[in-house]
Amino acid sequence: MNLIFMGPPGAGKGTQAEMFQRQDGLPHVSTGEILRQAVRDGTDVGWRAFQFMQEGDLVPDEIVDRIVHIRLAEPDCAEGFILDGYPRTIGQADALDTWLARADRGLDAVVFFEIREEVLLRRLTGRRVCPTCGAIYHLDYHPPKEPGRCDVDGVTLIQRKDDTLSTVLHRLEVFHRWTEPLVEHYRRRGLFLSVNAERPVPEVYRGIREFAKSRTARPG
Ligand code: AP5
Repeated sequence: MNLIFMGPPGAGKGTQAEMFQRQDGLPHVSTGEILRQAVRDGTDVGWRAFQFMQEGDLVPDEIVDRIVHIRLAEPDCAEGFILDGYPRTIGQADALDTWLARADRGLDAVVFFEIREEVLLRRLTGRRVCPTCGAIYHLDYHPPKEPGRCDVDGVTLIQRKDDTLSTVLHRLEVFHRWTEPLVEHYRRRGLFLSVNAERPVPEVYRGIREFAKSRTARPG
């Protein structure tokens, strides 16, 4: 399965992608996570991306396109992948199409996460993440077993720097301006599934999985 997860910040894309990775063995390719790792490692990409991310702006297409193309060419993506947070602009969608055509591959589904603004604000302000393994928690909806520590590796959980209210509001504006136009782009191609992302995590997962399976099972 080759899937794209698209939606506003805090809609639950990363949570669902992690679940698909665990349950279906599909690699979770998160551009946000790759960029945050580059910042932590102090690489050239990290230095170039840092200021944009800090302010909730999009990192320039040419940087993001390149890291995605390198990642998708890795062997674990040969049988399928979940792109979480990419593409985010029409330019990125075109670059992805070109890359897929060259690799003789296609997309099975583009999943759009629908959620009201007040719900995602609650989700983002209560989100905590593991800086080492990337596991995602929420203080109320998905707390770790031991407060403040990752269930997987015991590392102290942190709040993402771009989860402050003012940055979240700016990220939302950026989403409406640059990423929402992609809805029509993919809807026209018949690849599109809109999910109610306010339902519980396992229900959202089941809805996406059913649709994605029906797409990969289609003839031709
Ligand atoms: P990125 O990391 O991609 O952030 P985002 O798209 O804003 O999405 P989030 O990670 O904030 O939210 P999510 O939808 O994954 O929600 P989550 O599952 O964590 O990007 C960060 C930055 O990197 C960008 O601002 C930009 O600068 C740069 N960047 C990245 N990609 C780029 C690109 N393609 N082009 C240019 N720049 C790019 O869930 C949120 C919370 O809700 C969690 O606490 C979770 O536990 C909880 N939760 C999840 N699902 C449920 C549920 N069903 N019920 C209750 N709680 C739930």
